[in-house]
Amino acid sequence: MRKVAIIGVGMTEFGEHWDKSFRDLTAEAGVRAMEDANLAGTKIDALYGGTMAAGRLIGQEHITALIADHMGLNPIPATRVEAACASGGVALRQGYMAVASGIHDIVVVGGAEKMTDVPVNDAAAALGGAGDQEWELFLGATFPALYALMARRHMVEYGTTEEQMAAVAVKNHLNASMNKYAHFQSKVSIETVMKSKVVSDPLKLFDCSPISDGAAAVILAPLEMARQFTDTPVEILASAQASDTLALSSRKSLTELRATKVAARKAFEQAKLAPADIDACEVHDCFTIAEIMAVEDIGFFPKGAGGKATAEGETAIGAKIPINTSGGLKGCGHPVGATGVKQAVEIAWQLRGEAENGRQVKGAEIGMTHNVGGSGATCVIHVMKRAD
Ligand SMILES: CC(C)(COP(=O)(O)OP(=O)(O)OC[C@H]1O[C@@H](n2cnc3c(N)ncnc32)[C@H](O)[C@@H]1OP(=O)(O)O)[C@@H](O)C(=O)NCCC(=O)NCCS
Repeated sequence: MRKVAIIGVGMTEFGEHWDKSFRDLTAEAGVRAMEDANLAGTKIDALYGGTMAAGRLIGQEHITALIADHMGLNPIPATRVEAACASGGVALRQGYMAVASGIHDIVVVGGAEKMTDVPVNDAAAALGGAGDQEWELFLGATFPALYALMARRHMVEYGTTEEQMAAVAVKNHLNASMNKYAHFQSKVSIETVMKSKVVSDPLKLFDCSPISDGAAAVILAPLEMARQFTDTPVEILASAQASDTLALSSRKSLTELRATKVAARKAFEQAKLAPADIDACEVHDCFTIAEIMAVEDIGFFPKGAGGKATAEGETAIGAKIPINTSGGLKGCGHPVGATGVKQAVEIAWQLRGEAENGRQVKGAEIGMTHNVGGSGATCVIHVMKRAD
C-alpha cells in the first residue's frame, strides 16, 4: 500500500443556488481544487463522484459521465458512488484505495447535490429512501422523524435535554458565521432554537440541517509525488467504513450508531492514534442529536455525556475537541452527496493552517472526518495529518 495525500481542495458556497446547475457547481468546485493543486486536467487519471439522488432531484443519472464530459476529462474512468448522505465520504475512500493500491496516481474526488430545484416534500421523500423505504418511509417516517426517535430515547436513557441539543446548533451556527462558504451566516441563541417550530418532536427547525445545493472536491496523489504539486500535503492516515441495519427497528440500541463505533475503532487502529490525539473533527450532525451521539460513539466523551459536554463548551473552537469548525451540516449546510468531501476540505484547511475568519484551530496537526449514510446504516471515517 502506498501512502496517500490530499494535494488540492475546493468547494462552492453551500446554499440555495437557483442560478447554477449541478454541472456548474461541480465544475466550480473541481476547478478550485485543481487550481489549489497547481494541476492541469491532463494529469488526472480517474474521477470518483459522490451523489445521492441526482436522478430524483434533477432527473439526471449517469452523473459522473456528465461531469467528466463537462470538465473535459474524457476519456479517464469516471465512477459514481452512492451511499446516501455518506456518498461523498465513500467516494473519498474509493479514491484513496485506488491511489493506495497503485492503480491510479492522480485522482479527483467530487461530491455534489442540487436539492432546491424540487419542493421540500419531494426532497424529504428522496432523503427518506436512504432509510428502509418499505417499513419506514412508506409509513411516514421521514429523516427528522427517525432522528427524533433516537433523540427521545437518548433523553430517556441519559437525561439529555432539548437545551443541550440546542447548544449544538448554537455552536455550529457560530462556526458557520466564520465560514464564507456556509449556507447560514447568522449566529443563533439557545432561545431562538428552543422557540423555533417543531419539525418532529423533540426536534425543532434549528435542530435540523437544511436542504442545500453545493459541491466540493479534493485531489489525491501518492505522498511521494505530493510535493511536486503543493508545499502543504495532507496525508490520509486511515480510511475505515462500516455498515449497520437499514431499519431502526432492527437495532439493539437507538442511542448509538454501531457503524460509527466500528469505523472509529478501525480508523484509530490504522492510524495508531486515540481520540485524544485528534485536534479537529468534522462529524455528521444532520440533526443536533446526531452530533451528540457521534462525539460519544467516536470516543471523545463517555456514552451519555455528549450533550452535557457540548452545553459546557467542550466542543467549541479552542476547547477540548473542536467539533464542526466548518459549521457542520447544521450551519454550513447539507447538500447530501457533497457533505463527506466538504468535511475533508475543511479538515485540510485546518491542517494547513488556512481556516479563515477566526475559526482556525491553533496548531492543528491531526484531523478526522465522520460521514454517515441514512440513519446510520453506513459510516465512513478518515483520519488525516499535516505531512511532515
Ligand atoms: C427542517 C426542514 C423541514 C425545513 O424546511 P421548510 O419548513 O420547508 O423550510 P423553508 O425552506 O420553507 O424555510 C423557511 C425558513 O427557515 C429557514 N430554514 C430552513 N431550514 C432550516 C434549518 N434546517 N435550520 C435553520 N433555518 C432553516 C429558511 O432559511 C427560511 O428562512 P427565511 O424565512 O428567513 O428565508 C428542512 O430543512 C428539512 O427537511 N431538513 C432536514 C433535511 C434532512 O433530512 N437531511 C438528511 C439528513 S440524514
